[in-house]
Amino acid sequence: MSIEQALALTSQERTAELDLEQLRRLVGLVEYDTGADPFPVTGWDAVVWSVGNATQAALLYQAVFGMELVAYSGPETGNRDRHAYVLRSGAVRFVVKGGVAPDSPLLDHHRRHGDGIVDIALEVPDVDRCIAHARAGGATVLEDPHDISDAYGTVRIAAIATYGDTRHTLVDRSGYSGPYLPGYVTRTSSAGTPTGAPKRIFQALDHVVGNVELGQMDTWVDFYNRIMGFTNMAEFVGEDIATEYSALMSKVVASGNHRVKFPLNEPAPGKKRSQIDEYLEFYRGPGAQHLALATDDILQTVDILRARGIQFLDAPDSYYSDPQLRARIGEVRVPIEELRSRGILVDRDEDGYLLQIFTKPIGDRPTVFFEFIERHGSLGFGKGNFQALFEAIEREQAQRGNL
Ligand SMILES: [Fe+2]
Repeated sequence: MSIEQALALTSQERTAELDLEQLRRLVGLVEYDTGADPFPVTGWDAVVWSVGNATQAALLYQAVFGMELVAYSGPETGNRDRHAYVLRSGAVRFVVKGGVAPDSPLLDHHRRHGDGIVDIALEVPDVDRCIAHARAGGATVLEDPHDISDAYGTVRIAAIATYGDTRHTLVDRSGYSGPYLPGYVTRTSSAGTPTGAPKRIFQALDHVVGNVELGQMDTWVDFYNRIMGFTNMAEFVGEDIATEYSALMSKVVASGNHRVKFPLNEPAPGKKRSQIDEYLEFYRGPGAQHLALATDDILQTVDILRARGIQFLDAPDSYYSDPQLRARIGEVRVPIEELRSRGILVDRDEDGYLLQIFTKPIGDRPTVFFEFIERHGSLGFGKGNFQALFEAIEREQAQRGNL
């Protein structure tokens, strides 16, 4: 496979009319030589959620997050076990599933984990090659490669297990033109875009963070290196990132073209329970902690989401007045006051800077949340903000009585 193929647009990106230059800017897409890649990945296919009420969650993602409903599967389409709604914003595809039949396995998952991510599906050009490599490396193959077809064509699909009860479905959809997968029908939004609102408020998925148990971070870094051919990115968070009470360690692995980036966190010993421990307790094990959604106008994104009721973590006021931090940030595209009034954080490295903000947990458990990120050259993840973020998260934890 050539470099051109490695930088091919995914079907979602084509539908969203994104181009490679936009993706370089939004998510730090890079060129690479796929010749030596044992597990070539084109990009994200979908983030699949199991939730307590998919019908309402689908409305939330439309009305608040501005996503577009594009496909559906459920009892009316012959799928008696569940409701599944497919939503998109730019290149981002969410599939939100909830159980209908009381004995649906989805409900077992939900009882254990609460609302969460069951599948981080990836688009690959050669499902069989990936599975052969994964199997040879000792990965757990949950679904062998097989074809599924309908009037729109055929997809080739397989799945491997990753941390916790999370899986990576691998999809080759080059022979398929339907709205999502066979079994789904086209369905359009009943929630219209409010007057004056932009078409979409985020464009692409930047990274998905996994929380794993103490001592397991390197195991999973090794899994992504060895099984999936991912490489380590420079960002490394060691035990130096700690507040008085809690700490984490983090490493980042990425697919060859850097579309798919997985920071992996494990708790580090602190005086009290860390946010990673809190997640592991309430999610009942390892799982996806946050999704970072890339936007080209984070100020507008935050203003819209706040107006629609989304709550963000507060940044400590000292964050913006601290002279050292101001010196580190340097010049950014808007006055610091614009960031301060919205609680947007800034981080800078040798390649540029990024603006980022984190929501509070979106479900009932203190587990999964979102990040919004606007990159300006930086390929980092906001390491410089961990301290400020930690302090903010710990204030929230203390309010919940979990610190
Ligand atoms: Fe992040």
